[in-house]
Amino acid sequence: MPAVLYEQRDRIAYITLNRPEALNAFNREMHQELREIWQEFRTNDDVWVAVVSGAGERAFSAGADVKQMGEQREGPAPSFWETWFGDNLQQGLEVWKPTIAAIDGYCLGEGLTLSLACDFRIGSERASFGYPEVNLGIATIVGAVRSPRVVGLGNALELLLVGDRVDAQRAYDMGLLMRVVPAGQALAEAEKLAQRLCRNGPLAVRCTKEVAVRSQQLPFADAVRMGESLRRLVNASDDAREGPQAFREKRAPQFKGR
Ligand code: COA
Repeated sequence: MPAVLYEQRDRIAYITLNRPEALNAFNREMHQELREIWQEFRTNDDVWVAVVSGAGERAFSAGADVKQMGEQREGPAPSFWETWFGDNLQQGLEVWKPTIAAIDGYCLGEGLTLSLACDFRIGSERASFGYPEVNLGIATIVGAVRSPRVVGLGNALELLLVGDRVDAQRAYDMGLLMRVVPAGQALAEAEKLAQRLCRNGPLAVRCTKEVAVRSQQLPFADAVRMGESLRRLVNASDDAREGPQAFREKRAPQFKGR
């Protein structure tokens, strides 16, 4: 059985962490399969939005596989000393198509980091969130980089240094969740959002996301200059003609992603 399921329906890719017996904890197989899946999602022109969720009713993911931890080798991986480049979404892979995490249970450690790497997080009332790594004497690195950018430093340090779980309402209050829905409804709500996103021009969406994300690292003038250059590429697309034309003809636009 694959550790991650990948299914494409219409323009939406459904990525399901699939180790429910281990609360969808990340083991080596899951990392490897996710790498391949994100590459497929990035490069397949037919899919425009990804929805990530966890199999079973108990967890999005309970984080790194604690049972595999003792088996890990000491010291850095051989590739560490070369310039690092993330090849998984949570570790920094650049994906400009929108991504949504549907969270219906435990969302811990690396699972929380993956959800933070998504653009939107929809959580159910039975979702809970936390970075329990410090309870195990382990440091959280990518989570410590990502979480302050989403929930602010104070909230992030609470999660990262205390290690206790917070419920969906608290997660919503700190800006981690876009929406809280009844138990069992997170995936359906994420699907609705994905369908809504698919009605927008996909190149305009990707360009705007890239500018919003990349400009966090750039001086203002450089960010605007980069964005204006990308805008010209989008404006040259068929979709950029279709949108205004559909408006003039009082009909819904038919975007094609080119
Ligand atoms: N890695 C490996 N297995 C995990 C796991 C993880 N991160 N989290 C849960 N599991 C496994 C459990 O070992 C158990 O399997 P088993 O019955 O074969 O022992 C199964 O998933 C169900 O979990 P269980 O602990 O029985 O459920 P619970 O409701 O009592 O507790 C949690 C749920 C999430 C509070 C608890 O499983 C937990 O603390 N997990 C570790 C979370 C963590 O530290 N993550 C960060 C790692 S860096």
